[in-house]
Amino acid sequence: MKVTLITGASSGIGEVFARRLAARGENVVLVARSEEKLNALCNELGRAHNINCQTIALDLSEAGAARRLFAETERRGLEVDTLVNNAGFGSMGDFLSLDVERELNMIDLNVKSLVELTYLYLAAMRKRRRGHIVNVASTAAFQPVPYMATYAATKAFVLSFTEALWDENRAYNIRVMALCPGATETNFFSAAGVRKPPFRVAQTAEDVVATALRGLDRGKGHIISGWLNYVQTQAERLVPRSLVTRIAGKGMRSGLNIKTD
Ligand SMILES: NC(=O)c1ccc[n+]([C@@H]2O[C@H](COP(=O)([O-])OP(=O)(O)OC[C@H]3O[C@@H](n4cnc5c(N)ncnc54)[C@H](OP(=O)(O)O)[C@@H]3O)[C@@H](O)[C@H]2O)c1
Repeated sequence: MKVTLITGASSGIGEVFARRLAARGENVVLVARSEEKLNALCNELGRAHNINCQTIALDLSEAGAARRLFAETERRGLEVDTLVNNAGFGSMGDFLSLDVERELNMIDLNVKSLVELTYLYLAAMRKRRRGHIVNVASTAAFQPVPYMATYAATKAFVLSFTEALWDENRAYNIRVMALCPGATETNFFSAAGVRKPPFRVAQTAEDVVATALRGLDRGKGHIISGWLNYVQTQAERLVPRSLVTRIAGKGMRSGLNIKTD
């Protein structure tokens, strides 16, 4: 059975991907750690849209999780035609004030598991000469972000990796796209441990997913959600990188109320 697999589908952008794609009649496989939330969403989507919805609850940051997920979809006889690598999290603060184990866990989820899932499902797509992969990056991918140093670096990786695969796979009828949202209203900030986002949150997950689906239809290598985010990322290319980084650092210090001495 042909399916769309969405990681991080229990909330935010991933949940909206699940809702929008199920409404289009696609069978969906929802992946995240929160089993109850996934099951509730799955029941709702299956009934509302008369589609097949399945869940697989697992922690994708664990070693071997990507391979276990792939093996499970193979065992269930699922043909993953669209893969949405959306699961991810961030952290905010002076790098040395953060828990290094959590920073490493972030790299495991945002980078390592995304690369492995892409590798495993892309191989099957190549054989079929058909498929779509959306890797969720961020506008933070375009520049260093002081006080979100590891997170921005993981997203820079995702953007670069995805654009390279976009070109490698165009000849095989496989669309690979990086989605770059700016600050979006989701659980992202509470998961990152901040009470109040240090910058303006201008978009909803619905806006972001609508942009992503347009970009995928157009065969883009990456798409930035929101025109202000687009203008900002383009303007940053015209000024020295050190200046862009210093301005971002100043904004983050003020937003997070960080004093340096
Ligand atoms: N919101 C923003 O401002 C923003 C901006 C740019 C990019 N993004 C990116 O958008 C993506 C989605 O985030 P969101 O904003 O929708 O935040 P969110 O509401 O916190 O959603 C994150 C999703 O990832 C799942 N997840 C977290 N850790 C996981 C793990 N170890 N294994 C499996 N699943 C895991 C969460 O589910 P469980 O907790 O149930 O596992 C949840 O479904 C992320 O890659 C994020 O970096 C967000």
